[in-house]
Amino acid sequence: MENQEKKVMLSGIKPSGDLTLGSYLGAIKNWGARSEEFDCYYFMADMHAITVRHDPAALRRRTLEQLAQYIACGLDPEKNTLFVQSHVHQHAELAWVLNCYAMFGELSRMTQFKDKSAKNAENINGGLFTYPCLMAADILLYQPDVVPVGEDQKQHVELTRNIVQRFNGIYGDVFKMPEPYVAKVGARIMNLVDPKSKMSKSDDTNTGRVLLMDDPAVIMKQFKRAITDSDTERCVRYDPEEKPGVANLMQIYAATTGKSFDEIEKEFDGQGYGKFKPAVGEAVVEMLRPIQEEARRIMADKAYLEGVYRAGAEKAEYIANKTLRKVYKKVGFLPR
Ligand code: TYM
Repeated sequence: MENQEKKVMLSGIKPSGDLTLGSYLGAIKNWGARSEEFDCYYFMADMHAITVRHDPAALRRRTLEQLAQYIACGLDPEKNTLFVQSHVHQHAELAWVLNCYAMFGELSRMTQFKDKSAKNAENINGGLFTYPCLMAADILLYQPDVVPVGEDQKQHVELTRNIVQRFNGIYGDVFKMPEPYVAKVGARIMNLVDPKSKMSKSDDTNTGRVLLMDDPAVIMKQFKRAITDSDTERCVRYDPEEKPGVANLMQIYAATTGKSFDEIEKEFDGQGYGKFKPAVGEAVVEMLRPIQEEARRIMADKAYLEGVYRAGAEKAEYIANKTLRKVYKKVGFLPR
């Protein structure tokens, strides 16, 4: 196997909406700068984006934009394998096999399935239900050691681990057991005006969602109107239970600047929220400024992007195919 001495890392994001500050702080930011240590695979999970009704043209556009944004966030295509999920047909094929090793009860307990079916009562389709099997296939095809995800996806990686245990229990050591990696800070960025809900790509523009490519003026506006609390002291203190809005802003500021919660509390001691909220906004604007410039520059070069995703799919397919062949042999499919 290639890079046998290196451990493997893999993750993906579905292009179901424009990338948010949550996608960046909870996921992409933790992927970069790992390529020396790991053999890294990152993909655009376009097949996951069709479990809810969607606009095909927007999906195509976002898939390409997401690739440009991955690169702008520091994922060098020379050092990381960047690809589009639907370009590697082995994902769908392994997903079918894994469907047969995931239990109805397990899939029914997935929080995301319960949330999404409540929100899309008119379209609770089979894909929404078996989505975690496709995600398990995405992971297991590449035999990764580590899967960096935000808090909300950890349950799907845990289910993948159950599938590995069940499958390996029957057929021997076919899949490597993947470990989820959830960062200590930034793994659950909440909506700025509804700090009890996760900031999501599908949130409405007029709500407290910040996009990776939002204009600086829009970002500042969103932070200035972020919900804090009615605490009369207006004290910047980390208390997710009592002060979820402030805790979320502290998470964002900590993940953006690398400062600890203690340092942040001292920095804004006695200054109230009036100083704190724009300071968080400015830190985010400055962090995103070079990423946005680079993403726009890369997005203008379609030929370059095509080259990247073609090369990525070729490398990914080579590895994915090896795993799929092994699985097909184990389950008893007659070779062609
Ligand atoms: P998705 O597209 O919803 O989110 C992509 C990644 O971003 C993280 N994330 C967040 N982290 C912190 N705060 C937030 N508000 C926030 N919103 C999103 C997610 O936890 C995730 O890590 N099914 C997956 C995509 C996927 C995948 C995979 C991931 C498909 N196959 C294989 C890992 C491995 C999803 O829908 O993530």
